[in-house]
Amino acid sequence: MNAEKLKLFMRNYPQGVTVVTTSLDSRLWGITVSAFTSVSLEPPLILVSISKTAPSHEAFTKAKFFAVNLLSHDQSQVSDIFAGLVEGVEKFEKVDYKLSSNGLPLIDNSVGFLECRVWRMYDGGDHTIILGEVIGGDVTRDAKPLVYYNRSYTSIK
Ligand SMILES: Cc1cc2nc3c(=O)[nH]c(=O)nc-3n(C[C@H](O)[C@H](O)[C@H](O)COP(=O)(O)O)c2cc1C
Repeated sequence: MNAEKLKLFMRNYPQGVTVVTTSLDSRLWGITVSAFTSVSLEPPLILVSISKTAPSHEAFTKAKFFAVNLLSHDQSQVSDIFAGLVEGVEKFEKVDYKLSSNGLPLIDNSVGFLECRVWRMYDGGDHTIILGEVIGGDVTRDAKPLVYYNRSYTSIK
């Protein structure tokens, strides 16, 4: 299977869009991630998969905690900013957020967030798979989620 065929297949799979954030050495980090899924209820585990070539990869492998912000249908601009697609924009200067009691950035107007403690990390080829133990979280807005499908943003009815 070549990479192009796999990407073509994955384009047909609609995915929610999250921004995974952390704080390390008094700097904030955030990256747009659609590779997010729940893994276990006992203990409560989720996973995110982060590209080894992403500049924020090192921060996420060093941090002990991270947050998953589930984006709303009207936050495609936020997704683009945290994917590094908007040139000349400092991620946390253009997006409103609050710091949780654990110091993790929670993005305003998201559908909700999870706060996680890093549980295990696994090699995932050109990505690192980070399993997080969910230590808190909430649904904070009654809004439809942002969906990424066929290389563009959409939502659900
Ligand atoms: C909708 C969407 C979903 C994405 N999903 C992922 C993902 O699951 N994992 C990942 O490593 N990068 C993903 N990316 C790409 C990263 O967001 C992008 O490489 C970003 O520049 C990394 O941030 P950084 O430059 O600060 O490290 C996605 C981008 C978009 C637009």
